[in-house]
Amino acid sequence: MATVITRVGACVAAGLAALAPVVAFAGTAHAQTFSYTPYQTSRFDAGTPNSSVVVRNHHGVVISYGDSAIMYHAPSSTLDALGQALFLQNCASCHGDQANGIPANGTPGAYPNLVGLGPATIDFWIESGRMPAVDTAAVEAPRRQPRLTHDQAVAIAAWVNSLDPSYPYIPSVNLKGANVADGAALFALNCAACHTIEGDGDALARGTYAPSLRNIPATQVAEAIRTGPANMPRFTGNLSDFQVRDIVKYVTTEIQHPRNPGGFGLGGLGPVAEGFVGLLLGVGLLALVGFWVGERQ
Ligand code: HEC
Ligand code: HEC
Repeated sequence: MATVITRVGACVAAGLAALAPVVAFAGTAHAQTFSYTPYQTSRFDAGTPNSSVVVRNHHGVVISYGDSAIMYHAPSSTLDALGQALFLQNCASCHGDQANGIPANGTPGAYPNLVGLGPATIDFWIESGRMPAVDTAAVEAPRRQPRLTHDQAVAIAAWVNSLDPSYPYIPSVNLKGANVADGAALFALNCAACHTIEGDGDALARGTYAPSLRNIPATQVAEAIRTGPANMPRFTGNLSDFQVRDIVKYVTTEIQHPRNPGGFGLGGLGPVAEGFVGLLLGVGLLALVGFWVGERQ
């Protein structure tokens, strides 16, 4: 369906005429057809979302965007006051009461500035239990049992977003129609280098690590892909929502039940390593046979 063009270059090639939004109406909200835009997380490069559907409220503010694979929703601004109260209780001691990373009597830059990060980033760090942080000296905030509920996370995301509205919004993945084989191929290409093909995670440079991807809810997988937490790259225009959905399907189903399609389960070392082990065994056997044959002469 969607003729979503994910590459700016392709859009430029397609000509500016293709970028003209087609306006349709969905109830009281306007639904527009856009051609592209990356899924930025930073206040520095926030732009129009890459979507076939964009829904605005009567003030013209984008409240949802996406397509049949993933819809991204802004947390409702009716949650702003609750979100601010929760932020002051749970986050301001480090990130400051303006969420700008400057706590009372604190040093500027001691903690990340959260203004303009976009609701998906805020939601991911709370719902994955990383925030509120327990050990500020840790090289990497670990995934933990969340201490705030989903509704509280969304309320905090609403308030932080009200300070400087940004993308991406919180994704809602429609896994129906996802292609798990394509997801596996895309995962091998884009994710396995760090997380391993079986999703068990691996050590990276300077004490950081790519965590295990077992038992991560679909929303958080999509959020991680679109926002790139900490040392993970952010996948924006280079993966379409349909490709992200395929990857999410692979991560939330196949990776949970790894199969060994053949050979020995060598701890998921992959075909190259398995082939290499085979080679070593084979050469070893040949050497033995040669030795044995030689002795007979
Ligand atoms: C005890 C101090 C502390 C508290 C409390 C705390 N944080 Fe953090 N936060 C940190 C530190 C330190 C980091 C950097 C961690 C890292 O990069 O692994 C961080 C990182 C983040 C990030 C990632 C920023 C980025 O640039 O990607 C987000 C989002 C965040 N915190 C949100 C929150 C929210 C929301 C709360 C309240 C629910 C909260 N934090 C409470 C210390 C804290
Ligand atoms: C360059 C290495 C790298 C690549 C490539 C990478 N990741 Fe990550 N990923 C990380 C790191 C590092 C973290 C942990 C970030 C943090 O919390 O500090 C992470 C975290 C995650 C999380 C959160 C897990 C949790 O514990 O909550 C998910 C989900 C995830 N990655 C999925 C993916 C997917 C899917 C891809 C491919 C589209 C991918 N990653 C590509 C390094 C990588």
